[in-house]
Amino acid sequence: MPSPDGRIDLRSDTVTTPTPAMRRAMADAEVGDDVFGEDPTINRFQERAAELLGMEAGLYVPSGTMANQVALRTLGRRDTALLCAERAHVYRVEGESTADAGLTVRTLPDGAGAFTPADVERALAEEPAPSLLTIENTYAAGNGRPWRLGEVRAVCDVADGRDLPVHCDGARLWNASVALGVPAGELVAPATTAMFCVSKGLGAPVGSVLCGPADVVAAARKWRRRLGGAMRQAGVIAAAGLVALETMVGRLADDHHRARAIADALAGRFPGSIDPATVETNMIFAARDRLPADLLDRLRAEGVWALALGDEVRFVTHKDVDDDDLERVVKLIQQMD
Ligand SMILES: Cc1ncc(COP(=O)(O)O)c(C=O)c1O
Repeated sequence: MPSPDGRIDLRSDTVTTPTPAMRRAMADAEVGDDVFGEDPTINRFQERAAELLGMEAGLYVPSGTMANQVALRTLGRRDTALLCAERAHVYRVEGESTADAGLTVRTLPDGAGAFTPADVERALAEEPAPSLLTIENTYAAGNGRPWRLGEVRAVCDVADGRDLPVHCDGARLWNASVALGVPAGELVAPATTAMFCVSKGLGAPVGSVLCGPADVVAAARKWRRRLGGAMRQAGVIAAAGLVALETMVGRLADDHHRARAIADALAGRFPGSIDPATVETNMIFAARDRLPADLLDRLRAEGVWALALGDEVRFVTHKDVDDDDLERVVKLIQQMD
């Protein structure tokens, strides 16, 4: 559905709006009080999410941040360390919440987009001892690079050898699955818990699901309540999540092709701003110092919105950007003086 003002909004895939099928499902959703576990739509959504990830249970939460923070509190222990990539969302964006959980963040180098078993081994030797490792798949700050199954398995093996639980921040797990051609369940199988968001590239308006073993999800449910994330008749929004899982995953490949086309245009017009080969999903982080200083303003004047983030400019493709929009964006970049 195009934006009402004709804007092509490439700031984030969180700007996506629900499809007509989602809106119909939302209007028709059967609901109940989810604090009593009596919302049939939420129950179906949680079961479906867990089934797709090959895990025992799922928990619907209002946001990706809450999914991560509930997982950190459920699996991690206060006064210990959390191991994560140096630009991980749980650190860079959720750092204060993670600190509130009593966890000291120890970062792992993310040079090639994924840290290695040797990085984990080294970090395990330091004090305070870690109680939890997180993997972010796709890794947003690394141009949304998907962690390969072998990479996931290798670091999880090290964690497993030390009885260290692993949480996968899979805000864009479905992008990773589609880009790699690997079922999402396989990508998260080596982890203890995994969450994914339906409110990003999948286009649903609200929510994420945290999946894991039944006892861990039962404990997470208590943390969700304590953090204020227990909702009532939220089947109204979960209904859109179910439609998202059934109808919106396969099409992510289109977003990935379009992101690559934008990266190609940027690299062609502004050499050094981005290496298109590193764009495998729907995110592009281009070096600001290789782009015209007024690039964002000039794009905005033409109805194309991108986002400045520190020394980078971010472009994210999603379901509300089609091939006509892509053509317009590519032309604008190519013709920029
Ligand atoms: C990798 C990653 N994890 C977690 C989140 C948090 O999701 P939310 O904005 O729904 O809280 C985001 C949000 O963009 C994200 O990119």
